[in-house]
Amino acid sequence: MIRTLHVLVLVFMAVAGLVSLSASAQTPEDALATLKNEAKTSTPAFQGFSAGAGERFFKQTHGNELSCASCHTENPFMAGKHAKTGKIIKALAPAANAERFSDSAKVDKWFKRNCNDVLGRVCTPQEKGDVIAYLLAVKG
Ligand code: HEC
Repeated sequence: MIRTLHVLVLVFMAVAGLVSLSASAQTPEDALATLKNEAKTSTPAFQGFSAGAGERFFKQTHGNELSCASCHTENPFMAGKHAKTGKIIKALAPAANAERFSDSAKVDKWFKRNCNDVLGRVCTPQEKGDVIAYLLAVKG
């Protein structure tokens, strides 16, 4: 009886673990598809994402001292370095780092924090989608 209960608990934990994993596991293309839906809803004139616009957005400053490139470098295929703490940051381009954009909770958390640092506000779905389109195009 106790053994059956143990097995049930283990099965339950395994299923719960899988469910929570699949809730945030994704590919960069999934992230883009989600952002595309958000962009269409918020901006009826939405025309799609642009890697070129994403690159400009990434490398420019936006009124504050830092740009995205300040920590992630001008070449996101390479490892970056935190502009304040000096800590090494792994490459942001999915071609260089397969973990990128694979966890939607992590993506949301860091977009929120970094956009606030760089723009003093959250990024729009258009801006986030442009950045991901750019990062997907960086191959070396
Ligand atoms: C002050 C330094 C800093 C700046 C500026 C910065 N980032 Fe980051 N970023 C980090 C750190 C630290 C992490 C988390 C560590 C890691 O994931 O390697 C991170 C992680 C991310 C992630 C998580 C990706 C994933 O799936 O793992 C995204 C997306 C991101 N940054 C985008 C941006 C964008 C877009 C900008 C510009 C608006 C930006 N960052 C500016 C430091 C910075």
